[in-house]
Amino acid sequence: MSLSPSTPATAVSVELPMERGASLRSFNSFGLPSNAQTLVRIRSTADVRRVVDHPELGRAPKFVLGGGSNLVLTRDVPACVLKMEIEGIRLLHTHEDAWVVEAGAGVVWHDLVAWCLDHGLPGLENMALIPGTVGAAPVQNIGAYGVELKDRFESLDAVDLVTGRTVTLDAAQCRFGYRDSIFKQGLAGKSVITTVRLRLPRPWTPMLGYLELERKVLETGISAPDARQIFDWVCAIRRAKLPDPAVIGNAGSFFKNPVVTAEQCRDIIGRDPHVVHYPLDDGSFKLAAGWLIDACGWKGKSIGRAGVYEKQALVLVNRGGASGAEVVTLARAIQESVYGRFGIRLEPEPVVV
Ligand code: EPU
Repeated sequence: MSLSPSTPATAVSVELPMERGASLRSFNSFGLPSNAQTLVRIRSTADVRRVVDHPELGRAPKFVLGGGSNLVLTRDVPACVLKMEIEGIRLLHTHEDAWVVEAGAGVVWHDLVAWCLDHGLPGLENMALIPGTVGAAPVQNIGAYGVELKDRFESLDAVDLVTGRTVTLDAAQCRFGYRDSIFKQGLAGKSVITTVRLRLPRPWTPMLGYLELERKVLETGISAPDARQIFDWVCAIRRAKLPDPAVIGNAGSFFKNPVVTAEQCRDIIGRDPHVVHYPLDDGSFKLAAGWLIDACGWKGKSIGRAGVYEKQALVLVNRGGASGAEVVTLARAIQESVYGRFGIRLEPEPVVV
């Protein structure tokens, strides 16, 4: 179609692709049943502004959906669900001490890690295969095998869901913590991340401090692996003990690793000397939630159609046709038994709706 000069250019693009009552089952990695009041696919920053300016959707509550890999849906979502599909990856800057890569919020995180390696840009390899999208990565400051998103972060753009204004935030403004950021606190539900920029330090240095990677170095005799080798190791480690959501519904780690004081840690060691714990810089200790759950005998157990994964007790799985309520019932039972035995309250990592 060709537009005559008098045709407003916006006439062909104002229609927002929206679906009423859309099923979210295939958009959450647990595969839980739930419908959105309205689903809108967001393919650009302009699309977000169009939602904000829309006479009906502008006023509706919003729910931002990335890869749906950190989500437990227990009911229908009475909101305008923004499904983030902003694509695009590019090398933005080459500085002497870093490369800066920019990616759209809808890019699959692992695809970004692979793209960077394919383009000679190492630095994200320890975070290979983390499920979810680039836009969701800063929300919970994803991390694995000794590297967190905040260690590779430059800035992000987010659009305010009330005013439609775009803001750029640096790492300090994002207030990153362990599986935490301002997007889970003060900005929760108030803005949507559209673009993320990552800073990959030059020269690249391998991050091999994590026990399982140290083991790979010993097993293979490769003491100076390149980034591709580390990527392959991380993929192999994850595939060996974490279920593929395409095969078994799950949301990765279901609980955060609890952080306790030195005194609490001594108390827990008194209850079981084998408890896996790591000292943190501030004198507190991080406990392995998977170990605590495993020690309570949950590995491989189920309640209804929700279960605890056989190879990693920190991961809850959908054994087929589970409801969100069944997952929550299982999670509560685990929390109660860990509290009863160790006096520790486990905090869920995924968002429960
Ligand atoms: N453990 C057990 N039994 C289990 C599971 C774990 O005894 O069933 C013990 C392990 O032997 C190990 C310790 O617990 O000594 C820690 O386990 P692991 O190294 O597998 O790491 P994690 O603490 O369970 C965290 C992240 C993962 C990330 C890995 C690797 C959290 C909540 N989880 O898991 O992130 O991949 O470290 O860095 O911080 C995610 O967030 O979805 C996720 C998968």
